[in-house]
Amino acid sequence: MRDDADWFTLLWTEDGPVLLDQRLLPGEETYLTLHSVEEMARAIEDLVIRGAPAIACAAALGIALAARRSEATDVAGVVADIERACERLAVTRPTAVNLFWAIERMRSCMRRAVPTATAESLRQTIVDEALRVLEEDVVTNRTLGRAGVDIVPQGARILTHCNAGALATAGHGTALGVVRSAVEAGRAVRVLADETRPFLQGSRLTAWELARDGIPVSVLTDSMAGHLMSRGEVDLVLVGADRVAANGDVANKIGTYPLAVLAREHGIPFYVAAPLSTVDLSTPDGAAIPIEERRSEEVTELAGTRLAPLGVEAWHPAFDVTPARLVTGIITERGIARAPYAESLAALCAEASAS
Ligand code: MRU
Repeated sequence: MRDDADWFTLLWTEDGPVLLDQRLLPGEETYLTLHSVEEMARAIEDLVIRGAPAIACAAALGIALAARRSEATDVAGVVADIERACERLAVTRPTAVNLFWAIERMRSCMRRAVPTATAESLRQTIVDEALRVLEEDVVTNRTLGRAGVDIVPQGARILTHCNAGALATAGHGTALGVVRSAVEAGRAVRVLADETRPFLQGSRLTAWELARDGIPVSVLTDSMAGHLMSRGEVDLVLVGADRVAANGDVANKIGTYPLAVLAREHGIPFYVAAPLSTVDLSTPDGAAIPIEERRSEEVTELAGTRLAPLGVEAWHPAFDVTPARLVTGIITERGIARAPYAESLAALCAEASAS
């Protein structure tokens, strides 16, 4: 996302959070102003906004909205309204750990403020913290993007899956942040965007935001990667993540794992770009990552048109887990973690919490 971009993923206004409705892209650019925590929770559940860091930012704004709208006249009442918001937002999407990271960050800000707060000062403190979550997300992505530039060869054909771009964050993106930073550093690149069934984050969202930035992009169906890799048409696979376990196993959009297997077969580097807020040291490995199952209709229907026979249901896990052994490196805002990940990720997280 260029600094002079004429669109945004989400922002805070005094009327409430404003979100670009990602369900309607690329056909329509519609912004929704949300007026309640329940509206924000549904926006996250219904994929108005999606992508791990953007979900975290949306949750922070939802909590800010609860604080701003709280009619309580005492601190305990504002705390109760904030707590209710945290609980509702925590049951929206289970896989992206950034959601829980943001809720915990907002809660600890509240706990720190309470001893000396008035109801009004607590409301303002919570709004200010949410704004910081958004600002820091952009800074983190820019830093992460620069940290990844050297893995992008001149002329690289970069295969990506889902959307790990500005639309999945408060700006710049993670995997697409690396692409943008590489372009800013003078690398010519071409992005191959997997369509990403069933919500089509690749063909609708990744292609949209890269085209808006003038970065060359071609859309592929999810089944084309093996063929193109076998012909030497892919130089690098670069994806985002919803949760990275302590051992380096990576949960990301369903369809990521087969790309990693194919990349290994063809000797192609497979990189993950994720901020440290996506690293969950309390989850030991990929088997312990909760995998969201979504509605059957998201697979059996497309824009209201039935694709599968009536009466037939789809099985719809929304994420898969790529084992750490298939991951060449995990690009973070503190540098690139490499195997053994249990050590490199723990060291980067320790460095971050010490700073
Ligand atoms: O279901 P989604 O669209 O929220 O899934 C998003 C992804 O899988 C992204 O790759 C991931 O959140 C990283 S976004 C920087």
